[in-house]
Amino acid sequence: MSNLFDEASSSYESILTRDVWMSGENTEYFALYKAQCIKTALGERFRGRILDFGCGIGLTVKPLCALFDPLRTKIYGYDVSKKSLAVAKSTVPGAFFLEDLDDTFQEYFDVVILANVLHHVLPEERILLIESVRKLMGHRGRLFVFEHNPYNLLTQWVVKRFPLDKDAKLLRLRDTLSLLKICGFVKYRSAYIVFFPKSLKVLRSIESFLSFLPVGAQYFCEAFVRDVDEPFKTNGTIREKPLK
Ligand SMILES: C[S@@+](CC[C@H](N)C(=O)[O-])C[C@H]1O[C@@H](n2cnc3c(N)ncnc32)[C@H](O)[C@@H]1O
Repeated sequence: MSNLFDEASSSYESILTRDVWMSGENTEYFALYKAQCIKTALGERFRGRILDFGCGIGLTVKPLCALFDPLRTKIYGYDVSKKSLAVAKSTVPGAFFLEDLDDTFQEYFDVVILANVLHHVLPEERILLIESVRKLMGHRGRLFVFEHNPYNLLTQWVVKRFPLDKDAKLLRLRDTLSLLKICGFVKYRSAYIVFFPKSLKVLRSIESFLSFLPVGAQYFCEAFVRDVDEPFKTNGTIREKPLK
């Protein structure tokens, strides 16, 4: 899977732009949308370290760098695809790109973003991935997950045609929330997002009122690390302790 993203690193943006043409928008619109969701949630006074885990060629990192004050907030990107990281490094000079997340990064980040990463991870490996992400965050860490909404027919259509999504297994919002719960996160909020194409952009001002409707092209979840006094255990896919 990561090879796919290595191979496509130089053409990723143009492939994506071609595949989202029906929305009338380009990749910058979707990246800025995500960055603004995060900025709104964290607020003007946020200070800390944000990691975009699975940052690809840095499409979301770029607007994050523009929206956050570099004196207060450091933006990091990490990806398994080294070639994507190389593109990100050359196009987003204001961020720090990491090729490895070794032990020195445990509890290092205040915020981690998983933007359209989980549907590329095998279902049986998702818990391990989210657990490893949780370990990168401090006790008050916040996680933002963005995913395609499988209930949106246009999203399904785009995913079927996007060559890099050929192994994708989409997650419903409730699947994502259940994974987050298993992995020690408490949901703070979730919302369906990206409802209207550019031709209907006059309606975008009401999108926030529609966030409960499972028809947006994507959704996001914001969750906090659960403050637990006893460690929880998993055997990779199944939590040993029953969920509360
Ligand atoms: C669809 S792209 C999304 C890129 C970026 N987050 C964005 O929204 O533009 C998915 C990315 O997830 C990365 N990825 C998949 N599995 C990963 C893993 N286990 N660890 C780190 N990155 C991963 C891929 O290499 C790819 O760059």
